[in-house]
Amino acid sequence: MLTHSVEEGPLINRFRKLWAEIAGVGRDSGSGGYLRYALTEAERTLRGWFREQADARGMPVQQDGNGNLFAWWGDPDAGEAVLTGSHFDSVPHGGAYDGPLGIVGAFLAVDELRAAGVAPDRPIVVAAFVEEEGARFGVPCLGSRLLTGEIDADRAAGLRDRAGVSFADALGARPAGADPTLLGRFAAFVELHVEQGRALVDADAPVAVASAIWPHGRWRFDFTGEGNHAGTTRMADRRDPMLTYAFTVLAANKEARLRDAHATVGRVSVEPNATNAIPSRVTGWLDARAAEAETLHGLVEAVRAKATERAGRDGTALTCTPESATPLVAFDGGLAGRLVTLLDAPVLPTGAGHDAGVLAAHLPTAMLFVRNPTGVSHSPAESATDADCAAGVAALARVLEELACH
Ligand code: GLV
Ligand code: MN
Ligand code: MN
Repeated sequence: MLTHSVEEGPLINRFRKLWAEIAGVGRDSGSGGYLRYALTEAERTLRGWFREQADARGMPVQQDGNGNLFAWWGDPDAGEAVLTGSHFDSVPHGGAYDGPLGIVGAFLAVDELRAAGVAPDRPIVVAAFVEEEGARFGVPCLGSRLLTGEIDADRAAGLRDRAGVSFADALGARPAGADPTLLGRFAAFVELHVEQGRALVDADAPVAVASAIWPHGRWRFDFTGEGNHAGTTRMADRRDPMLTYAFTVLAANKEARLRDAHATVGRVSVEPNATNAIPSRVTGWLDARAAEAETLHGLVEAVRAKATERAGRDGTALTCTPESATPLVAFDGGLAGRLVTLLDAPVLPTGAGHDAGVLAAHLPTAMLFVRNPTGVSHSPAESATDADCAAGVAALARVLEELACH
């Protein structure tokens, strides 16, 4: 039985030490945020660090055919392994904790178990999933979607980053896609993650157990019009896709508010992107989320209808392409209940997407959230105290012990 507690101190020190090893990797000195896009230099450095950490613990590392890394404590053929871990990649100028906390925390949880003399009956596996944010290739949770067969391997292979590099080229091979043999080795997945809101601040608790993830997805809106001269084209003669785009952003905000849902257009590209030219094309990516699938569907359809109507008035054209979709995830109630009892922790739903959400359709899955004093995420302002991170590690260690030994 584990007896370490945060008050004892050493775990905090171990967390600080290991965390410091990666704190500078991919950090932008201007914003203070991270540029750790999947399979770029910064993320590859972290993948190398993952291998070193695994080696130091005598945990053989397996890279699957999709770019995901797995470090094994125990025999992969034993079956019923307990999987933990998260992702290294970030959104542009993202926070330090979203992803890496779950990997650093997993290695430290292994250390905690070993220090306590725990000998698991079943393997414990630390994972680093590739391209969780979708910041480089557009589809979030790409590694876990590939592993589970939730995305077609050919489609994933052809996804391109902003410089035109395909996922297959970045990976160095066509992704293998669904791997039922590997997936079948896991009996449960538990992801430790920073909270992406302030519920734990209000609850005055360092760690929570997740209950559900809102359905969500990404839709690309391409608006086309007529590129022309900003000084000579009469206002009445313009076919300006920027107007249709701007109206659509406002409509998305309004429709989301009407439904208690979330809509964001956080990425846009403009052609030719010149101050003195009416654009010929604007592309905006809608990220939409809601508590229920029907609400999400209604939201996106309302935005699409309003945008189409507006395009008619602007003399522009519009196409709307779904890029990714994640249904409602209700985490395994039995497992969550077990963890709540074990940890005496509150339960939280979330609007954020996670590899745990993808894996939840295939094996019993749970998430632990660590308090975030700012409540901010996907931003350099994301935060967590060392003490709360250590509490998260201690909680994860208890959960791994519970699942791998009982
Ligand atoms: C990932 O963090 C997402 O929710 O988009
Ligand atoms: Mn994220
Ligand atoms: Mn994350």
